[in-house]
Amino acid sequence: MNNPKMILVKHTAEFARQAADIFADTLRKKPDCLLGLATGTTPLPLYRELIARYRRGELDFSRARTANLDEYLGLAPNDVQSYSHFMNENLFDHINIKRENILLLNGMAKNAEAECRRYENTIHDWGGVDLQLLGIGQNGHIGFNEPADAFILQTHLIKLAEDTRRANAKLFKALHEVPTQALTLGCGTIFAARKILLLAAGQNKAEILARAFYGTVTPQVPASLLQLHPDVTIIADEQAGEEIRKHLLLEDRAM
Ligand code: GLP
Repeated sequence: MNNPKMILVKHTAEFARQAADIFADTLRKKPDCLLGLATGTTPLPLYRELIARYRRGELDFSRARTANLDEYLGLAPNDVQSYSHFMNENLFDHINIKRENILLLNGMAKNAEAECRRYENTIHDWGGVDLQLLGIGQNGHIGFNEPADAFILQTHLIKLAEDTRRANAKLFKALHEVPTQALTLGCGTIFAARKILLLAAGQNKAEILARAFYGTVTPQVPASLLQLHPDVTIIADEQAGEEIRKHLLLEDRAM
C-alpha cells in the first residue's frame, strides 16, 4: 500500500491555497496538461483561488485542457442544476481556457453508451489525465462511482444511490428534482490519472475519509481504491480530518 500525502489544514483560505499550489505546479510543469475536474461544494474555494491567481496574472490556462468527472443524466448543459453549468459559472467563464479544450459529458446524449465511449476516447487522445481533482461522497463515492460489488473501470451510466440523491438535494429545490441516473468517469480512468488530489471538508466526511484510506480496499468504498495509487494527496479541513488525525497519531506513536 502507498501512503497518500495527507495535508490537514485549519482554515478555508489555507485549504484553497494548498490545493491551488498543486494546480499551479502542474500547469507550470506542463502548460498543456489535462486537468480532471470535480463539482460539489468542496472544490469551490479552490476554484475561487484559481480565478484570483489567474486575474493576478499568476496562472495561464490558454493551453490547458479539462475533463470533468460526471454529469446528471437528463439535464441539458444550460440547465442551472447541470454540472456543465456549474463549471461555467464557477470556473470556466472566469479564466482563459479555450472552449474546445473543455470536455464535458452530455447529460442529454441519446445514446449513453456511445457518449461514454466518446469521452474515454477523447481523454485517451488527449494523453490521459495529469492531475485528477476529486471530492468524496459520504458513502465513499468518487465521481458518481457508487458502492458496488466490483469497481467499474470505464466511463459508464450509473443509477444514483438514494443517500447520494439525498445529499445532493441541497443544491436542488426538492429531492424529486434530483436525477436518478448519471454518467461518470470509471474508477479505472480515475486511477489512470498521473496525480490525484482529493479534497474533503466538513464533519460529515470525517468517518468516510478514514475508512477510505485506513480501511479495506473494497468497491463498497470506491475511494478506497486510491490506496493503491502511487501519487495521491489529500487535503482535509479540521473537521473532515478529525478521524484521519487519530490514525496519524497512532502511526507516529508506533514509530
Ligand atoms: C457529487 C459529485 C462528487 C462529489 C460529491 C461531494 O456527488 N458527483 O464528485 O465529490 O458530490 O460533494 P460535496 O463536495 O458537495 O460534498
